[in-house]
Amino acid sequence: MHFISDQLEKYIENHSEDEPELLQQLSRETHQKILQPRMLSGHYQGRVLSMVSKLKNPKHILEIGTYTGYSALCLAEGLQKDGELHTIDINEELVDFQRRYFDASNFGNQIHQHLGNALDIVPKLKMNFDIVFIDADKENYSNYFHLIIDKLNPGGIILSDNVLWSGKVLEPLKKDDISTKAIMAYNNLLKDDDRIETVLLPIRDGLTISRKK
Ligand SMILES: C[S@@+](CC[C@H](N)C(=O)[O-])C[C@H]1O[C@@H](n2cnc3c(N)ncnc32)[C@H](O)[C@@H]1O
Repeated sequence: MHFISDQLEKYIENHSEDEPELLQQLSRETHQKILQPRMLSGHYQGRVLSMVSKLKNPKHILEIGTYTGYSALCLAEGLQKDGELHTIDINEELVDFQRRYFDASNFGNQIHQHLGNALDIVPKLKMNFDIVFIDADKENYSNYFHLIIDKLNPGGIILSDNVLWSGKVLEPLKKDDISTKAIMAYNNLLKDDDRIETVLLPIRDGLTISRKK
């Protein structure tokens, strides 16, 4: 769900950075060949991720939820020359697709793919991170937060996607709707945790920026 009109969204896109050609291609191919193309961050949110990353200029980025690699490529734009982006996805059918686009970019050898459940993989990563992007299964957002908070450098940033969950965070909670329940609990967790400061932005489906103190 988008919270602003299509017309306003177009205006915002037209007055933001253009979508790089490679990402346009990636988006087209995702829409043609891959299930659930709505999961891809897209032009405007992608430019926001790129801008945040360039402002932070991170050495290490962690992404939970690669999908077809769109947001990884946006975040990689801000990496230091010797920086690394580690991205995790549980779907092995996406690995070759991702790699093809990573290698076609300027960041191929800086992007490391991890295949498997992020709950198992994150504890095995030995480095600390400057940016973490959480964009996988909503039920585990709070678990991911607990796994990464001690691996986040002071001043480091957690970006969390889909935190408005198509506006369902405002509706009466249905008993079997575990995703909405998890997102609502996660938003409260971010707001209440004293180790971070948080702003929730109404970008696309909701994007929170949390900065570790
Ligand atoms: C919303 S998509 C990610 C979109 C991507 N970040 C982008 O903006 O283009 C979510 C991805 O999380 C992956 N995923 C779901 N549960 C996971 C888990 N437990 N561990 C790792 N990846 C998971 C899915 O396979 C899917 O590709």
